[in-house]
Amino acid sequence: MNNFQYYNPVRIVFGEGQIKELSELVPQDARVLITYGGGSAERTGTLDEVRTALKANGQRDIFEFGGIEPNPEFNTLLKAADMVNEHDIDFLLAVGGGSVIDGSKFVALVSSLTTQDGTVSRDQAWEALTSYCKDIDSAVALGAVLTIPATGSEMNSGGVVNHSDRQAKLPFGNPLAYPKFSILDPTKTLTLPERQVMNGVADAFVHVMEQYLTYPVNAKVQDAFAESLLKILIEEGQAVKADAENLETRKNIMWTATMALNGLIGVGVPQDWTTHMIGHELTSLHGIDHARTLTILLPSVLRELKDSKKEKLLQYARNVWAIDSNTDTKQDDDSIIETAIVYTEDFFRSLGLPVSFADAALDESAIDPILQQLDAHNMVKLGEHKDNDLTVSRRILERAL
Ligand code: NZQ
Ligand code: ZN
Repeated sequence: MNNFQYYNPVRIVFGEGQIKELSELVPQDARVLITYGGGSAERTGTLDEVRTALKANGQRDIFEFGGIEPNPEFNTLLKAADMVNEHDIDFLLAVGGGSVIDGSKFVALVSSLTTQDGTVSRDQAWEALTSYCKDIDSAVALGAVLTIPATGSEMNSGGVVNHSDRQAKLPFGNPLAYPKFSILDPTKTLTLPERQVMNGVADAFVHVMEQYLTYPVNAKVQDAFAESLLKILIEEGQAVKADAENLETRKNIMWTATMALNGLIGVGVPQDWTTHMIGHELTSLHGIDHARTLTILLPSVLRELKDSKKEKLLQYARNVWAIDSNTDTKQDDDSIIETAIVYTEDFFRSLGLPVSFADAALDESAIDPILQQLDAHNMVKLGEHKDNDLTVSRRILERAL
């Protein structure tokens, strides 16, 4: 196991009816900007619950900013950042999924990059994004009410922002972006369309895989946690597909997705974010949902890199899919690995998710533009060995056709 420091300051408030806790969690004299997405939070009544809780005690001034898109847009977020300055906001409350929470983190980080007229400098904000926001040293405090289990954004310090005009979807991370708290009320997920539920299960699954499926460093805690999370997602993914109303299933999916990307399973182990980084280009160029880009790419990433990932792939086959090499019909390593990848594809398909370009109505003409964008965004040394260059990415994309 490699050396590591683990730090995670996010208070998790989990359970039915917990939105009322906002009355205690948000400072009583705060000037709060509630941020939300395209309207689901209003429609489902969650925003009303939030407003009521914030007014329950204290002297808070409350403002609202709606319209943050799935794959949050840079230009929209900058409008929210201007609002932060215009109204002296000192607390951002994100109500939504990964897009709203990520977007609000970005707002929290870039609000101080103002020009003389008090608006946020678009150039400086773009520069900050292209350097992962890592040099920003102050941020507005942020809390979250999560409405879709998927990204783990509620308990991490990262995010992804889309800039449509520049065809760029770029990640950032800064410890100042950790939410002060996140409220996880599983009943809020019951209003999700099936597509978003399945997207969430798949996103969490791939988050675990990108931290687990590299090479062994004898990190027993991380490996065992990761394998458990994968098995729970397989089980509960099927369960939610069969019975969307089961709250116990929703609870387990929600906490698993948070655990999948709160840093815990990623400490002291090599990581490989190839699937995500190529996936971001697919979203940015073709508007494919984040999770669906991942299910299209992951099987091909595993097949292409099966030699360097061999030991972990065999471990994955054994511990997650119970593919046993010690039977009478002993398979060789290659066929064990291929079986595990096929099971993974079958799992994604069973949730209604695409596993190839063809499934997403794309063909080989999509490949060159993706490679150009990877190059433009300097995504040319991906993987746990930093040797997935554009040639390797091309082979991955060709396999995914
Ligand atoms: O916009 P509204 O109207 O709210 O509708 C949303 C949106 O259309 C809807 N929705 C959310 N909660 C709902 C609901 N509909 C009904 N009932 C509810 N309770 O669901 C749609 C998708 O929402 P979104 O926030 O985009 O989904 P998700 O949580 O999957 O977030 C995806 C974004 O997170 C980024 C992705 O790249 C993508 O931009 N990621 C962030 C990560 C992080 N911060 O660590 C890691 C991930 O790998 C990921 O990259
Ligand atoms: Zn993801």
